[in-house]
Amino acid sequence: MAEAKAPQQRGGNADNVFTEDPAETGLRFEVDGEIATITLDRPDKRNAQTFATWSALARIGDDLPDRVRVVVVRGEGPSFSAGIDLRMFTPEGVPGQGSFSSTARLGAAAFEQRLRQAQRGFLWLRRPEIVSIAAVQGHAIGAGFQLALACDLRIVADDVKFCMKEPALGLVPDLTGTKPLVELVGLAKAIDICLTARTVEADEAQRIGLAEQVVARDGLDRAVHDKIAGLLSTNRDAAAATKRLLQGARSRTLEEQCAAEGAEQAERLRALFSSQP
Ligand code: ACO
Repeated sequence: MAEAKAPQQRGGNADNVFTEDPAETGLRFEVDGEIATITLDRPDKRNAQTFATWSALARIGDDLPDRVRVVVVRGEGPSFSAGIDLRMFTPEGVPGQGSFSSTARLGAAAFEQRLRQAQRGFLWLRRPEIVSIAAVQGHAIGAGFQLALACDLRIVADDVKFCMKEPALGLVPDLTGTKPLVELVGLAKAIDICLTARTVEADEAQRIGLAEQVVARDGLDRAVHDKIAGLLSTNRDAAAATKRLLQGARSRTLEEQCAAEGAEQAERLRALFSSQP
């Protein structure tokens, strides 16, 4: 598997820009103050993803500047992402990155390591210190759907088409998408969506909780912009603490959650008022 190059910091008009070779990773990454934007940038191939894309995502997560509070994940062109690069299914695979047939010959440990690295590219988007927003238009298939699911919020265009295609191709969704899908839509609906590999369009996506907001295609950037303004209007540390509480709520009892609220609030009060006489 080809390792994507480490992001390099460059000066520029935006207050911070990192670059990797977009031809290899299929994405661009920009930071402007408290907002980071990851753009899937192979529109001619419907933003198909490779292992190099996922390695680059993991490195972006590793190097994300502390000041960033909101991460937007978007796709260039008509579709958010058509999922994994279909060349992986061919014997030749993706140049420098192998194929599914070469992956199938890896030992269990080597496969596990490769998958973990890919999953790392998705996992950091849930960090409490940031809010991640997927801005999704057109198709979000397989790995594309899972990338949208890795984000905290999904703002979608009215032409959105989510599809968990893996089971139709003999695979399982393994890029961290199954847990958020079940948590968002429930087990029965997740089984329906995955095991039929059917398409979920905008109205249904909003109804079942996959999308927070549906907007006209040409209003997507504006809707994301407005959401970011709302998110940045709250206190940074309180927002992170609240996200920690919300993320932990499902796995705690009510009593445990009350205790967790108390612990976070004690810390907030100390931070805000301990210097007052
Ligand atoms: N991998 C590589 N290339 C792709 C992919 C992909 N996943 N999806 C589309 N492309 C390429 C097409 O081959 C075509 O290339 P070409 O112009 O060189 O012929 C170009 O992108 C445009 O594709 P079209 O099919 O012409 O675009 P359209 O907008 O009509 O359809 C759609 C888009 C529905 C996304 C269609 O391309 C498609 O079904 N793609 C495959 C989706 C898929 O099965 N993904 C794997 C899911 S499983 C997983 O992700 C683990």
